[in-house]
Amino acid sequence: MTLRPNGMIIYKTEAEVALMKQSALLVSKTLAEVAKVLKPGMNTLEIDKMCEQFVRDHHAIPSFKNYKNTYPFSICASVNDVVVHGFPNTTPLKEGDVVSIDLGVILNGWHGDHAYTFILGETNNEVLQLVKVTKESLYKGIEKAIVNNRIGDIAFAIQEHTEKKHGYGVVRELVGHGLGRSLHEDPQIPNYGKRGEGPKLKENLVIAIEPMINMGTKDVFTDEDGWTVRTKDGKPSVHFEHDVCVKRNQALILSDYTFIEAAEKANTNLNTSYY
Ligand code: MF3
Ligand code: CO
Repeated sequence: MTLRPNGMIIYKTEAEVALMKQSALLVSKTLAEVAKVLKPGMNTLEIDKMCEQFVRDHHAIPSFKNYKNTYPFSICASVNDVVVHGFPNTTPLKEGDVVSIDLGVILNGWHGDHAYTFILGETNNEVLQLVKVTKESLYKGIEKAIVNNRIGDIAFAIQEHTEKKHGYGVVRELVGHGLGRSLHEDPQIPNYGKRGEGPKLKENLVIAIEPMINMGTKDVFTDEDGWTVRTKDGKPSVHFEHDVCVKRNQALILSDYTFIEAAEKANTNLNTSYY
């Protein structure tokens, strides 16, 4: 989501967290369906239609569609230099493309919203490393999502691993967010910041942590379509997102990459050599 001030934070009950787990899992399962079929020659509009159908078949609503009365699709398909919020289109995907698929659903009134980046076929080590490090940074952020830590601890962990250690660009204009009955709740979860800063994390806060990491400059711009965010230097960008519930000793990850990763590894058109 785009930056705005923080306001009221809504904590969830155990029962609500259980419902949100179902929402997040439906997103994971849908992204696993994508992982099964994704290949060069396919286009992202086909993926959008497939995801929308799968979500509706599971008694849920794609939450991005008509978001703010302007987002026209069920998924964001962000290829190569597109950071996030890419419109699905009919351009055939090609070998070497880096494809982030972001999907949101509403199931029983609760939102799930997460994303995964796939690599189509052969690419160079620089791209493999960017994907690997961005995924790692998501888990480093998640490790900090425990009671009495602060938002800044999550943000710092992500920035350290990506910007400080690997020299990547951490996008400033877009951040993670609280999640619940709304797609975007407070607080905002930046991927950059200082340890010990920001709101304190309390039990059963549900957040979407979503590092958006550029191989080159952190600077981005938005296309004339008003949504598509691209890197200024045209270099690739990677996006991973998990839905996470803050707990006392260890964060509970509501979404589940195991379905996606299993399908990804079984699909010979996808590159998993960075694992
Ligand atoms: N995960 C993205 C976000 O939280 C996707 C939003 S797409 C939108 O910003 F269309 F719903 F905005
Ligand atoms: Co999100």
